Amino acid sequence: MAAQNLGKQAAAIRAITDYVKNGQVIGIGSGSTIVYGVQELAKRVKSENLSVKCIPTSFQAQQLIIEHALPLTTLEQCPVIDVAFDGADEIDKNLTCIKGGGGCLTQEKIVAYFSRAFVVMADSSKRSDKLGTTWMKGLPIEVLPLAYKPIQQTIEKKYGGNAVLRIAQKKAGPLVTDSGNFILDWEFPLEVDLTAVANGVINIPGVLEHGLFVGMTECLYLGHQDGSVDII
Ligand code: A5P
Repeated sequence: MAAQNLGKQAAAIRAITDYVKNGQVIGIGSGSTIVYGVQELAKRVKSENLSVKCIPTSFQAQQLIIEHALPLTTLEQCPVIDVAFDGADEIDKNLTCIKGGGGCLTQEKIVAYFSRAFVVMADSSKRSDKLGTTWMKGLPIEVLPLAYKPIQQTIEKKYGGNAVLRIAQKKAGPLVTDSGNFILDWEFPLEVDLTAVANGVINIPGVLEHGLFVGMTECLYLGHQDGSVDII
């Protein structure tokens, strides 16, 4: 297994071990780290005969839940989540995260917000002294397709940097999110007050959500290549 994946796996196993209890409603994040989390959750459910319900944050998460034969539920059936687990693209000392590298930020933020505890699992490369210096692809912003151009121009004019329309990897044209929208990856100037600016960006009509998660993380499990985990 690649060194980075050892850190992801170690963090995920430890987080699931510490937080999962019988009877919980559990939010399942998206990305590569959560795959290890779901594997561990399925193991525990089977070996300890746990009764849990899982809420996905994306199509990928839904597939993971189904593949591992875990009970799937919805926010309509379970509007309060006990604990949500997810990865992050970058995380600073205040546990503020940049998320959305996989394009699922809006559903991820909804699930995180309506959870009693939001737990981040990540390998140590995700740690950052200053947001924007480790994850170099910008702050993901989900926008309604019809408004992407004026939103792009407004962000660049008002706050600087470049708001780049994310292009799909294996299809011609823009990436379309699970909710049918576009993503602008905003390569923001490092000197901006990111929290203040993100609060401004969200007020632009047509912006659905951004990938800055402020004051949401209860706990970070940071895994290292040697299998050790820092709990922060
Ligand atoms: C998905 O949109 C993202 O927010 C992911 O949670 C984030 O990119 C972490 O992904 P990895 O676990 O693959 O690093």
